[in-house]
Amino acid sequence: MRTSLLLNFCSYLENTPISLSIQGSSWVIPAVQTSHLLAIAAVIIASLMIDLRLLRISGIESSITIVMSRYASIIWIAIPVLAVTGAVMIIAEPARSLANPAFQLKMIMLMAVLSITFWMQRMSHHNSFFWNASPSKRRLASILALCSIVLWVGIVSCGRWIAYT
Ligand code: HEM
Repeated sequence: MRTSLLLNFCSYLENTPISLSIQGSSWVIPAVQTSHLLAIAAVIIASLMIDLRLLRISGIESSITIVMSRYASIIWIAIPVLAVTGAVMIIAEPARSLANPAFQLKMIMLMAVLSITFWMQRMSHHNSFFWNASPSKRRLASILALCSIVLWVGIVSCGRWIAYT
């Protein structure tokens, strides 16, 4: 989606004093990119630990509720770091990301995977046996874990793709 309203907003944003000062700095972008990458590593490891438990591949000695409460907090801490560092990169070069289909797809997939994570965490918080209550719940847990893995792979790929589209 590259509407003229969006492109006008991008050219306004890249001429604001804050954008110009980020563009003129030699260390801000490398520093935020490094923080973005470290937060990506945290988010991917934490969600993989949850997904592998839901798929009964690892961590089966602990309940799903325990694994979720252990790792989901890492996701909810890393997401604001990603949002802030991502926002700094957007302010520096708005058209490169905001008007980029890879970035837009990345944001849609991010919303989807965070909704899945939030809902799964909420269900196991309300009822710690929820995901083991029946074969259909166990199947649903596996399907959601696979969707989560596919979405995270898509998000990382789109993040990297922004530079090439
Ligand atoms: C929460 C909101 C987020 C925002 C606003 C955001 C924004 C951005 C922006 C603007 C870039 C720079 C792209 C470029 O100019 O080349 C970027 C890079 C990237 N993002 Fe995000 N991002 C967010 C979350 C995430 C998440 C959750 C992941 C994956 C778990 C992710 C993965 C990546 C990757 C792999 C890159 C490429 C880094 C590089 O090659 O240096 N981002 N992101």
